Amino acid sequence: MSADPDVMRYFPGLLDRTATEALVKRIRAGFDQRGFGLWAVELPGEAPFLGYVGLAVPAFETHFTPCVEIGWRLAAAHWRKGYATEAAAAVLDAAFGPLGLREVVSFTVPHNTPSRMVMEKLGMVRDPAEDFEHPRLAEGHPLRRHVLYRIGAKGWLRRRSGAAGG
Ligand SMILES: CC(C)(COP(=O)(O)OP(=O)(O)OC[C@H]1O[C@@H](n2cnc3c(N)ncnc32)[C@H](O)[C@@H]1OP(=O)(O)O)[C@@H](O)C(=O)NCCC(=O)NCCS
Repeated sequence: MSADPDVMRYFPGLLDRTATEALVKRIRAGFDQRGFGLWAVELPGEAPFLGYVGLAVPAFETHFTPCVEIGWRLAAAHWRKGYATEAAAAVLDAAFGPLGLREVVSFTVPHNTPSRMVMEKLGMVRDPAEDFEHPRLAEGHPLRRHVLYRIGAKGWLRRRSGAAGG
């Protein structure tokens, strides 16, 4: 998945097997440390691994850190079937339920429409005043500019209770 140029077109590079194994190790360590992380997405009976959707703590510093981020990456064969949105809603239920978080953010490059659509479908809100330059990318890098979306526990729980009530 992370070696597919289509999947990685909004990231600065592809991951080879060694880099992916290191990522999985970091994800596992994060689960041990925090009790949350990037969950594997499974389609029961059909596909054991579609990709991941979950929570992470960005290691860089900028105006909105420290924070908890929601993120997603699915193999291209599984795009546009609603899986990212469905899995992300389950992640926010966990974030604002058992995990007791107050706010979750998400960010991407402005032209990553699929990812922004997932954020917007979840009810996450962007304030253009919070757009930022990704501190891990050099000045002038074409992917440096990012948009930031936020959602708070109250907003999510209100949305969920509204949905349950029809
Ligand atoms: C972002 C990503 C996870 C979305 O996964 P997905 O399962 O296809 O998303 P969904 O099916 O839940 O779609 C959510 C909405 O986005 C829309 N959408 C998805 N791909 C789209 C595209 N290429 N162009 C326009 N809209 C798109 C869907 O139509 C849907 O809206 P709708 O229900 O109103 O039709 C997937 O495209 C991906 O893995 N991309 C590569 C990795 C990546 O960029 N991750 C994000 C980094 S910030």
